[in-house]
Amino acid sequence: MQRESVISGISRPAGPARLAGPVLGIETSCDETAAALLAPDGRILAEALHSQLADHAPYGGVVPEIAAREHLLRLPGLIARVMEQAGLDVSALGGVAATAGPGLIGGLVVGSSLAKGIAIARGLPFVAVNHLEAHALTVTLTHPGTAFPYLLLLLSGGHCQCVAVEGLGRYRRLGSTLDDAVGEAFDKSAKLMGLPWPGGPHLERLAAEGDPAAVPLPRPLLGRPGCDFSFSGLKTAVAQALARGARPADVAAGFQAAVAEVLADRARHALALLPGARALVVAGGVAANAALRAALSAVAAAHGLPLLAPPPRLCTDNAVMVAWAGVLRLAAGCRDGLDHAPRPRWPLEELSPF
Ligand code: KG4
Ligand code: ZN
Repeated sequence: MQRESVISGISRPAGPARLAGPVLGIETSCDETAAALLAPDGRILAEALHSQLADHAPYGGVVPEIAAREHLLRLPGLIARVMEQAGLDVSALGGVAATAGPGLIGGLVVGSSLAKGIAIARGLPFVAVNHLEAHALTVTLTHPGTAFPYLLLLLSGGHCQCVAVEGLGRYRRLGSTLDDAVGEAFDKSAKLMGLPWPGGPHLERLAAEGDPAAVPLPRPLLGRPGCDFSFSGLKTAVAQALARGARPADVAAGFQAAVAEVLADRARHALALLPGARALVVAGGVAANAALRAALSAVAAAHGLPLLAPPPRLCTDNAVMVAWAGVLRLAAGCRDGLDHAPRPRWPLEELSPF
């Protein structure tokens, strides 16, 4: 039965299933190559990650071709390392889960092909994980007992969305960016300030030396209905302020304050659309920013909700979250066919509920 669903067909929920062993998770959708092993109860048995930051830094952004080649080079070694760390043989696995989208197609092909190869060789179930779902569910691993529904703000270099997480496979996007992702806005603004890429953390440090009120900057979409975001106008205003000779530290502080205000406003709107929310959850690399967290924490508190954030290493791209999504999907009886094609675009709403 299981074998049949592995060979053909996509995402077939066949009812709850007992997981026969740990799940190997693989992440290759952008510029982190990662592998992790999770026990069926969510215990992290081993994790390994190779950041390609240094390979892309000279270009000021991720170069897809370089990323795909690096994944190909690094992934087999990382998988061997996690198996060794956990003292396990591949034959002990209960399944293999790999990010199959959204992301850069070269990397997705490398990761999911290797995962399928292991699945074929060992007759294991394969799960094609949606990267956004993996981010969305991480909090249920790091904060056990987190109940649905919760509001997720996914804030990274590639994604910027407000999502109602209502259950496994049940997501409603309440808003997303109309132009740049918030991390992208941080990185582009930081570049204008002469800071190295990726500039988010550097901009945060520079902002600490500035006066957020010294340079007035716009608050795009503030107070407008809905939960969409827009950051490109803010970035243009940053460029203009710097061209006028404003102090970079003041511009950084003003930029961060503007983003914090906008995110808080959008979160408030989103919570109004999800009255049963049990928590406000942040994920993505930008969630590491203390000023933004403080602003979102105040919004959560005003609604009597906790602000939950996975630790930074599980907030940014990693394979633990992919393995966890795999554990949850396999336990729910989901298997993907080996004909599942990786998808550069794969909106969360296209997933099926269980
Ligand atoms: O989730 P992530 O690691 O992956 C991608 O989106 O690829 O997010 C990276 C993004 C970058 O844009 C980086 O500048 C931003 O997160 N970031 C920050 C901070 N730390 C990382 N942005 C603002 N403040 C920070 N402290
Ligand atoms: Zn991500």
